Amino acid sequence: MPTLRLAPASAEDYRQLAEGRLPRFLFDYVDGGAYDERTLASNISDFQALEMKQQVMRDVSKLDVSTDFLGQKWTMPVALAPIGMAGMMARRAETQAKKAADCFGIPYCLSTVGICSLEEVAKVSDKPFWFQLYMLRDRGAVKNLLERAKAVGVKTLVFTVDLAVVGARYRDVRNGMAGGISAWGRLRMGLLSYLTHPKWLLDVGIKGKPHVFGNLADYVPKATTPADFKQWIDGQFDPSVTWKDIEWLRSNWEGDLIIKGVLCPEDAKAAAQVGADAVIVSNHGGRQLDGVSSSIAMLPQVVDAVGSSVHILMDGGVRSGQDVVKAVALGAKAALIGRPWVYAVASRGERGIKALLETIKGGMEVSMALTGAPTLEDLSSDLLNSDH
Ligand code: FNR
Repeated sequence: MPTLRLAPASAEDYRQLAEGRLPRFLFDYVDGGAYDERTLASNISDFQALEMKQQVMRDVSKLDVSTDFLGQKWTMPVALAPIGMAGMMARRAETQAKKAADCFGIPYCLSTVGICSLEEVAKVSDKPFWFQLYMLRDRGAVKNLLERAKAVGVKTLVFTVDLAVVGARYRDVRNGMAGGISAWGRLRMGLLSYLTHPKWLLDVGIKGKPHVFGNLADYVPKATTPADFKQWIDGQFDPSVTWKDIEWLRSNWEGDLIIKGVLCPEDAKAAAQVGADAVIVSNHGGRQLDGVSSSIAMLPQVVDAVGSSVHILMDGGVRSGQDVVKAVALGAKAALIGRPWVYAVASRGERGIKALLETIKGGMEVSMALTGAPTLEDLSSDLLNSDH
């Protein structure tokens, strides 16, 4: 049981707070990864293995972490990654995340399988947000979702390509989230975990309804619980998708297109060839194929392959401003954070996300000051050392 009682200072602190706040099966859904969780672990440990080079006595009185990509200026090179079912972790969490991102001046990306719909998130403000989509078997639904996204002002589509099949997440299996448990067993487990987490029960279980996948409600009218929607979406992931389908997608989407889930140079080149504006080097936060390389380990190869033609973002294991600086030094235009913002919103709501973002920004500034690199342009792989 987590023992943290004081003010949260790091992503790990928010993680511990979230562990206390959330019913076990929800915490594990966020916190866990595929199979033995080796890639989940290496996403983090490979960042830790990269050491920065301390350089002093440079003028670092004017630090600037701001950046621009895809034609827009942002406070820092960080975005909030798409997270399915985030609205089960905090009340209407997707809208809280959008508010925090707007306030901070960074992009928020809504998941296809968010609890809040495109339309609900768009009501938060006039500021644009990103929308993440998968290729569903039902291409009519894909087209319709593209039209809905456009109608609410989305200009950046994040298209996830690493979900041809779903990797087994053992924690979800053990908690009965992947089936294999009787209705009675599920009810008993649900009741027990709800009653032992009264704050969550009130905030999300009661006040956070409806618990549907807002974007998909029209396509699965009979579904009433997240489990019903999950069953539908798991059957909709299309294993026959190839880059030809991305050409089709490109011709149906005029805005910026970011391909998420590229982990090797060959795929990055294919993404660039079909007209992607950016790629996200990602292994889905270690939730798909366990045993693949960490994102940060693969980043330099992707940068070498396509860095001159498309923007390169990355995610997986980013937990601090130091990590963001390392990713930028290795050629990323920006890094996305997934679990950390969910831990923050689950434990402290919108203000938790804002505080986490402040912490990340502060960590970037200190890292840049003490490596003698006052702007993002000054960051390069010369400032890193991984030979230990
Ligand atoms: C995800 N991720 C994800 N990606 C995506 O494209 N669509 C989605 O709906 C989801 N859903 C989702 C749920 C949960 C609980 C997690 C933890 C992750 C992957 C996510 O966008 C991102 O790639 C990783 O989370 C990045 O790794 P870190 O920052 O969590 O280590």
